[in-house]
Amino acid sequence: MKRNARIVLLKGLVAGLLGTLAMTAGLAQTLNLGNANSAEFKVVYATAQDVAEGKKVAQTACASCHGINGVGGQKGVPNIAGQRPVYMHLEMKVYQAGGRGATGMANAVKYLSDDAIMKVAAYYSSRDPAEPSGSNVKAAPAKPDAVAAGKAAAVACGGCHGEAGVSKLAGMPSLIGMDPKYFTAAISAYKGGQRKNDMMKALVSELTDVEIANMALYYALQKPDKAQTPAPGTVAAGKTAAAGCVGCHGENGVSGNPATPSLAGQESQYFIAAMRAYKDGSRSDATMKGPAASLDDATVKNLSAYYASLAPQAAKVAKPLTIAEWAERCDRCHGVNGNSVDPRAPALAAQRVDYLDRVLLAYKKGERKSKEMAVMSEGLDDALVDGLSAHYARQKARGVTYLILPPPPPAK
Ligand code: HEC
Ligand code: HEC
Ligand code: HEC
Ligand code: HEC
Repeated sequence: MKRNARIVLLKGLVAGLLGTLAMTAGLAQTLNLGNANSAEFKVVYATAQDVAEGKKVAQTACASCHGINGVGGQKGVPNIAGQRPVYMHLEMKVYQAGGRGATGMANAVKYLSDDAIMKVAAYYSSRDPAEPSGSNVKAAPAKPDAVAAGKAAAVACGGCHGEAGVSKLAGMPSLIGMDPKYFTAAISAYKGGQRKNDMMKALVSELTDVEIANMALYYALQKPDKAQTPAPGTVAAGKTAAAGCVGCHGENGVSGNPATPSLAGQESQYFIAAMRAYKDGSRSDATMKGPAASLDDATVKNLSAYYASLAPQAAKVAKPLTIAEWAERCDRCHGVNGNSVDPRAPALAAQRVDYLDRVLLAYKKGERKSKEMAVMSEGLDDALVDGLSAHYARQKARGVTYLILPPPPPAK
């Protein structure tokens, strides 16, 4: 049976010291690359002679843009020093075939032979990678995540709605556990005047859509608690009267429909006022007009006590991943902190932030084709693209040395 050669990666060690040192220090990592003898991996086996010839190609065809050391510093031109060799070789063939657009880069490789491409890839991959420094990185501010931004914006609301949205004041609604869709709709109804409340209108009129979305997320995700105000009325009688409400507001007051508010734990005076407003039409809502019209004051009071006694729940929304959590997913293919150990997967550490930004958007729009990256970039909005680019531009880049081991002896 034919066995595959193994490629061992030795990080940051001089080639001459390899064997014993690396193995005993536990720095080596063995990769199973399938058939490592295939043409794809030829660039990993490049000799010193190949690298020297690659340098000559670099001097004439590449250095004007990438610099002879592969750390250009020009806007839009990626660092290629220490980039993984198989990846680089294959990408250059993609440019040659017009697959990444007819750029200056495509022209530079158009007439190079496959042999020259292999050697110049071997040359640049042997260079020391860029340092994560310079205006490049500082230019990219770290954005706070959505929930933290929502918390900061919600400070202005805490005086009435309670910290984390748990009301401590009679007449003030709790916002805890509110579905973001209902929250957002309520705010825009105040803004647009469909829901008449001059005070709330004034309070929310200056908020941007992003601020509203962030606050909605913050309130939806806080630890649920009942309003901290008295709720006079009879819970048992309220429970009986609530039979007609369950279909919309859910069993135990937790609604399954984002457009219908949950009532569990809601503040009792606010609840009573809302029912009165539906009844007299000052809060006009076609759905609630009917249920409210038929109820007398005593029943509404009992209903408010019943709902106030129920435990609210956090809304069913996923907490968005932070940049660090996203990066953990990316690192599965791109290596720890973007230091890929697979010669086929590009390293991202210390890459230029403007270049990372641009290619991530190109994958997302489908301009640059890659099955893996199409999936990974799909869920990225502009803020995440900026955040991830800044994250990787800041990482320390580590060069990788590949040592080809002979196939292990066949097991007896
Ligand atoms: C006219 C300027 C120019 C020249 C000359 C040039 N490049 Fe490029 N190169 C670029 C630019 C700009 C990009 C980024 C293009 C893009 O966004 O796809 C790039 C991208 C690359 C990439 C892809 C990097 C990555 O991480 O995906 C590699 C590899 C590369 N160049 C290698 C070379 C080599 C080797 C040569 C010489 C044979 C060369 N380039 C010549 C400007 C140039
Ligand atoms: C001065 C007290 C006060 C402040 C400050 C305040 N609110 Fe309100 N809020 C109220 C009152 C009172 C109501 C009920 C109004 C009504 O009957 O429609 C309300 C209603 C709401 C509702 C609808 C609740 C529901 O169950 O339908 C939302 C959402 C809301 N406020 C969000 C906010 C946000 C976000 C802020 C901060 C930007 C804020 N409020 C600041 C007093 C306040
Ligand atoms: C047909 C569905 C439906 C039924 C039945 C129904 N509701 Fe509602 N309820 C809604 C919807 C939708 C809203 C949101 C309306 C709006 O935006 O003003 C709402 C809003 C409310 C509110 C205001 C909540 C807030 O946070 O502002 C209260 C209180 C309420 N309902 C109580 C009840 C009670 C009590 C019953 C039973 C007697 C009941 N509802 C029956 C659909 C229903
Ligand atoms: C399943 C493996 C996988 C995952 C997970 C993954 N990538 Fe990639 N990534 C790739 C492959 C393969 C390529 C090379 C694609 C090509 O040929 O264009 C690539 C290319 C890239 C490039 C272009 C590099 C260059 O030098 O031009 C960037 C930037 C990138 N990925 C960022 C990310 C980010 C950010 C994430 C996480 C959101 C991520 N990747 C997750 C496999 C993956």
